[in-house]
Amino acid sequence: MNILILGSGGREHAFALKLSESKKINQLFVAPGNAGTHKVATNININPTDFNAVKEVVLKNKIEMVVVGPEAPLVEGVHDFFLADIELKKIPVIGPKKDGALLEGSKDFSKQFMQKHGVPTAKYQSFTALTLNEGKKFLETLQPPFVLKADGLAAGKGVLILNDLDEAKTELEEMLSNQKFGEASSTVVIEEFLKGIELSVFVLTDGKNYKILPSAKDYKRIGEGDIGLNTGGMGAISPVPFADDAFLNKVEELVVKPTINGLQKDGIDYRGFIFIGLMNDKGNPSVVEYNVRMGDPETEVVLPRIESDLLDLFEGVAKQTLEEKSFSVISKTATTVMLVSGGYPEAYEKGKEITGIENVSDSIVYHAGTKLENDTVLSKGGRVMAVTSFGDTIEEALEKSYNSINKIHFDKMNYRKDIGFDLV
Ligand code: AMP
Ligand code: GLY
Repeated sequence: MNILILGSGGREHAFALKLSESKKINQLFVAPGNAGTHKVATNININPTDFNAVKEVVLKNKIEMVVVGPEAPLVEGVHDFFLADIELKKIPVIGPKKDGALLEGSKDFSKQFMQKHGVPTAKYQSFTALTLNEGKKFLETLQPPFVLKADGLAAGKGVLILNDLDEAKTELEEMLSNQKFGEASSTVVIEEFLKGIELSVFVLTDGKNYKILPSAKDYKRIGEGDIGLNTGGMGAISPVPFADDAFLNKVEELVVKPTINGLQKDGIDYRGFIFIGLMNDKGNPSVVEYNVRMGDPETEVVLPRIESDLLDLFEGVAKQTLEEKSFSVISKTATTVMLVSGGYPEAYEKGKEITGIENVSDSIVYHAGTKLENDTVLSKGGRVMAVTSFGDTIEEALEKSYNSINKIHFDKMNYRKDIGFDLV
């Protein structure tokens, strides 16, 4: 089959590498891709939210399936666009339509969905500029810390956690009346703070059946010891040691099944990934958020642990035969450490030459923000590459990742030296 992957991060490089191993693959394309995907696929420089450009690429290259990496094209309706187009409608898209993508595209929608279908989550209420005063009164009924969430997509920045009531009221007003996050914060979800340890569980579904993929934990803060600004993710580990069978059974029964059944009951034909952000509070799961895609860098530890043919699984999603597909995971632990640009997650430097990747033999180097210029790999984004390794233990895998990182160099390269610090 000819496959097109949309996106350009470490997640998409991981998809490309995994799909390139499939016996069923013919030609693989990534749009726009990076210097890593260039090695296993053909990069095509278009914007994944320019659906007419996507169409042109699909028709020209006889693409037979489209795999969507990031959320933006899904929330903007790339799957619906395909279904509405006479030339594209038979080409399967891995990723939900607009109605399903609302699970990530609208926090208010996803909270209503969870409440309606009995999925455990923090208590909440939603407010708009017209109900600002009610929102402030609602805050007075809660205990700190206060959790304020912009309803729409806000590039991962739309969640505020505040200890002070007055500050929470001011921020609520900033979000609702002064559009702190633009249109995304015209509705704000205020919810109870959840205690516990965070982790993520990933589900692949064809709308009827599902496979639960390996669990993972990512490290979102820039600083060691989980301090400082939030990032897209500085590293990840899979499996999560505290997500034991008893906990994962609860996740399946209390979260995954009601979610899949809820989608069916609501008439949402969902085909793709569901990334379930969870809080584990003394063995009980509560959903922090849904995303309608895989996580990054979680993909860089989840996909390499999957033994089954990913394209075969995707065909199961497209044809609603996922139940028949074999699915197995290797028991080894995978760790990944993100190499980021100097300054990230604030203004960062780019265009730096990256050397030494070819000397790495014990790890997989997934490219994220990289580009190729005259045969030289240059940094292009804040998160530059993810270095993934396997081990029988977290320590063993991490040691390999850190040894491999010692062989890679670019000016002002930064990374966290304590990934997994809370787990070992
Ligand atoms: P979200 O975009 O919903 O994942 O929120 C970003 C981060 O904020 C999460 O990964 C959590 O660390 C934190 N967070 C969100 N909601 C809550 C909550 N209700 N209680 C505690 N932490 C939360
Ligand atoms: N690593 C978090 C995310 O992909 O949303």
